[in-house]
Amino acid sequence: MDINTIRADFPILKQKIYGYPLAYLDSAATSQKPDSVINALSQFYQQNNANIHRGVYYLSESATKAYENARHSVQRFINAPHAKECIFVRSTTEAINLVAQCFGHLRVQPGDEIALSAMEHHSNIVPWQMLCEKKGATLKILPMNQRGELELDTLEHILTPKTKLLAITHASNALGTLNPIKKIIDVAHAHQVPVLVDGAQSTPHLKIDVQDLDCDFFTFSGHKTYGPTGIGVLYGKSRWLESMPPYQGGGEMISHVSFAKTTYNDLPYKFEAGTPAIAEVIALGTALEYIESIGWDFIRNHEQQLLAYATEALSSLPFIKLIGTAEEKIGVISFTMEGVHPHDVGSIVDQYGVAIRAGHHCAMPIMDFFNIPATARASFGLYNTLSDIDQLLQALQEVRKIFKL
Ligand code: ALA
Repeated sequence: MDINTIRADFPILKQKIYGYPLAYLDSAATSQKPDSVINALSQFYQQNNANIHRGVYYLSESATKAYENARHSVQRFINAPHAKECIFVRSTTEAINLVAQCFGHLRVQPGDEIALSAMEHHSNIVPWQMLCEKKGATLKILPMNQRGELELDTLEHILTPKTKLLAITHASNALGTLNPIKKIIDVAHAHQVPVLVDGAQSTPHLKIDVQDLDCDFFTFSGHKTYGPTGIGVLYGKSRWLESMPPYQGGGEMISHVSFAKTTYNDLPYKFEAGTPAIAEVIALGTALEYIESIGWDFIRNHEQQLLAYATEALSSLPFIKLIGTAEEKIGVISFTMEGVHPHDVGSIVDQYGVAIRAGHHCAMPIMDFFNIPATARASFGLYNTLSDIDQLLQALQEVRKIFKL
């Protein structure tokens, strides 16, 4: 695989920002989109737009077929046993809210516990807090150490007979830590605790096999996976999804409606009320095919090379402190710069064409743990190069000059 050929697939990367080549280092927030995904969206509206599952005419049938084909692409991509276990939702956030509300309704009673880890994104904290408030349940938190690695020895004490679910991230958006998720799931299952994996940050970077992981639920977002915004996936084992009540009521999710009683549709439609994001689903299928065409070996090796290069270069700068130094990481580097607020770092490097994120990364408990308000964060996608990182390093020298560090 040639990186320049890959970069040519991403039209946005061709532009200059303030006269500098764009060094896009914010793929953990959202990835850029290849031509094939952009074309899939426009082609749908130009040639195939119709509502699905309802029409008897050609366009509707072909849109339905493309939509359901995308579900099969998702099934293959995460190696789900059945396509009906792959539910289309808006995002990882919506997927977790769905499980919190529907699984929570079914399984959680007063006095029960939900286990989370100390490195969760707000979207894997707040829905569970809302559930706990409603049900009189409590949260238990698996701690982490100063490197940003989970203290797995304590997992067995966190899980109790009252634990109804462990909801945990596969990879941290703020620290980059890649958790040993299979091992965690094994321990949880040994305690009869089902596991939801937040895969928003891992799915773009490594091969996901939900059967190998044996997770009960797995979630990811299309827009971080080279696909469109507004579309995400919830995978769940059929036995859970079948026993859970629906999330939203409306068209499509029903089998029969009368004023006296409504019966619900089968999976996956029971959880897909209303007209879905048809074009986005189809383009997500295209994005997953694009990733497969590049291949996991290339993606993982390339991104690990970028991570190693950036880690070494940033650690050698005396005015930079890395936040999150776990042994296993995805391509995310969070850092602080002595005497400079991360927002200033982000705004100044932007002047040199470098796009990074600065803030709490929707992970305030992580910032509290490290006793900092925010970090600057560079994150990599399959299209990044060593020269993007060099551009960041040079821009950081400009920040240093401005602040006289
Ligand atoms: N959760 C996304 C991020 O980490 C938006 O940037």
